Amino acid sequence: MSETTPAFPPDFLWGVATSAYQIEGSRQADGAGESVWDEFCRRPGAVEGGGDGSRACESYDNPERDLAHLTDLEVKAYRFSLGWSRIMPTGWGAPNATALDHHDRFVDRLLDLGITPLVTLNHWDMPQALMDLRGPFDTDVPGRQIGGAAPRPARGGWLARESVDGFAQYTEAVADRIGDRVSDWITQNEPWIIQLLGYQLGLHAPGIADLARSVVAGHHVLLGHGAAADILHARNPRARVGTALSLFQCYPATDTEADRVAAWGSDGYVNRWYLDPLYGKGYPAEMRAVWEAVLRRENAGFTLDDVIRPGDEDAIAGRSDFLGVNFYTRRVCAAVPTGADGLPLDDRDFPWQVVGPSGDVARTDEGWEIAPDTFRDLLVRLHTDYGAPRILITENGGVFGDTPTHDGQVHDNRRIAYLRSHLQAILDARAAGARIEGYMQWSLLDNFEWALGYRPRFGLVHVDYATGARTLKDSGRFYAGVARTGTIAT
Ligand code: NOJ
Repeated sequence: MSETTPAFPPDFLWGVATSAYQIEGSRQADGAGESVWDEFCRRPGAVEGGGDGSRACESYDNPERDLAHLTDLEVKAYRFSLGWSRIMPTGWGAPNATALDHHDRFVDRLLDLGITPLVTLNHWDMPQALMDLRGPFDTDVPGRQIGGAAPRPARGGWLARESVDGFAQYTEAVADRIGDRVSDWITQNEPWIIQLLGYQLGLHAPGIADLARSVVAGHHVLLGHGAAADILHARNPRARVGTALSLFQCYPATDTEADRVAAWGSDGYVNRWYLDPLYGKGYPAEMRAVWEAVLRRENAGFTLDDVIRPGDEDAIAGRSDFLGVNFYTRRVCAAVPTGADGLPLDDRDFPWQVVGPSGDVARTDEGWEIAPDTFRDLLVRLHTDYGAPRILITENGGVFGDTPTHDGQVHDNRRIAYLRSHLQAILDARAAGARIEGYMQWSLLDNFEWALGYRPRFGLVHVDYATGARTLKDSGRFYAGVARTGTIAT
């Protein structure tokens, strides 16, 4: 192999990723229960364009079409999620056998095609039934005011420690059914995003806006990882289990000590708060102090010790066979003036602010900076700081709004450039020693992008939502070449 065409190893796991709520549709089929996203989407103003997952890409009704795309893309792996609320309609107890049948058949079809299933257990479609649990504080917490509707109080979900048991029951049901054929599992998708958008800002289901209690939700999500990993390992010692974390390198806006501290603080909040306990370091002390100060300022009525109980950190640590990395962009952070408690003097939540990137940087159509060099830096840093873990890129991609032109094709050259630069970053990180063993592109298809509805297009396959027609984009052809040859010089 010449130096100009660096290659990935032949066993590199090339794949694509989706999630159930974003593509399946058929929300009531096969005895499904309601998920928190079904409920959230009904709130006027919650989703841009008023969309929901009722139809999406109609993947539940017609899985063969998705399988045909996987074949076209020549991938070796498919990361998809199971419909939690379809499998556990009432949150607890006996699973829905018909829904399990569906996923069981799908796994067999993937294996027939020689495609490795990489199964996500929680990609955000928690059963709504689990929202009715009493939380550890036994009080309702405020929902975010959306549109003109009254804020909707809520209490359970990930605020309730009992939801960890609900998640464990679901994991058992799934492991019993498909664990003989599935070895690769992702327990939780993006714990920080669940905590931030679902429980701190209320921009995602379940629409709760409670800064203090969001830290409770995040902790329970990590406990859910630990519980699920134990079940999967007990059922199958060869199981490989990880979480998919949304990770962002955080950079100081200026070369001042104050901004460097701000960037480190932001890193503690979005990255190390999850990485450190997963990798046996416990929650980072300086971020614990920030959260304690926040809880005091908010008069939360509880401390972190009430939430993070003795033994909890042990129940989270050391159970990851790989680290799932979802990478999209970076954060640029600046200091804000703080008071004696170390918290901002204004009404910001934390003693840093995300100020950038500003100015003339390359961006996707959603405005996210395209920052592949920071991807390389992130991967090398994970290798160095967390004991050289096996790494799978569980998501990476960009919004590029290209649609079919007069020739019926989708010439999404910017996505190809995005892919090239990010795959090069992986090659560079591998050359520096990072053990990156696979790459799941987000996403197989244009799909339901949560609160942003159907506007942002992330797919290698274009979906015409009016007709259901699908078109393999130029980027899909490019990616098939990468998966076939193991090089980006195609
Ligand atoms: C994060 C989430 O896991 C996925 O569901 C989402 O569509 C993509 N990244 C893009 O925002």
